[in-house]
Amino acid sequence: MTRKFEGDTLLVATHNKGKLEEMAHLLEPFGVKVVGAGEMNLPEPEETEDTFVGNARIKAHAAASATGLPALSDDSGITIDALDGAPGVYTADWAETENGRDFMLAMTRANDALEAKNAAHPRLAQFRCTLVLAWPDGHDEVFKGVAPGHLVWPIRGKDGFGYDPMFIPDGYDVTFAEMDRWEKNKISHRGFAVAKFVEGCFD
Ligand code: IMP
Repeated sequence: MTRKFEGDTLLVATHNKGKLEEMAHLLEPFGVKVVGAGEMNLPEPEETEDTFVGNARIKAHAAASATGLPALSDDSGITIDALDGAPGVYTADWAETENGRDFMLAMTRANDALEAKNAAHPRLAQFRCTLVLAWPDGHDEVFKGVAPGHLVWPIRGKDGFGYDPMFIPDGYDVTFAEMDRWEKNKISHRGFAVAKFVEGCFD
């Protein structure tokens, strides 16, 4: 039996603006207000695990024990078939530079790696999202969502964040960055994971 979330404000253990905005939008219909880890001045814990669920657990439990409140984390990324699942849990790392994260660079790295392998088209990929809701007593619940699709180059679209401009979800001919937030959330990895979270943790 899944433990229920009680309350009207949910602490989301992320400093990523894109994730936070999508989460707020997804939870709005359920009367839930979202507060980010940045607003609570929480530090960003190091993600030392090599799985999405491992890193999501680190973030959710760190925020729950720092605040005494239930905390929801999101660990996500993109897996590319022709790159044997890379960048996977290292999706954000591919954007790291001395001056912060650069997702144009990260997308270029992904495309260059595919070109170097002369990878066949369509270049299949999946966005993956693992959500963990952790309570201060150490209990947690895990929810996962996957959005299958393929990668395109050059990139297309201005909305969204991260690798959105190079990803076309199955059944569409536009990238996530060419969709409005509502449309993306209906079919995204995060949208599917949040739907399971809502089903499991809300009455
Ligand atoms: P992490 O979960 O903090 O390790 O970072 C995951 C990374 O995956 C983000 O920084 C984004 O680059 C990427 N990512 C996750 N979800 C999305 C999405 O919905 N669109 C585009 N990129 C995403």
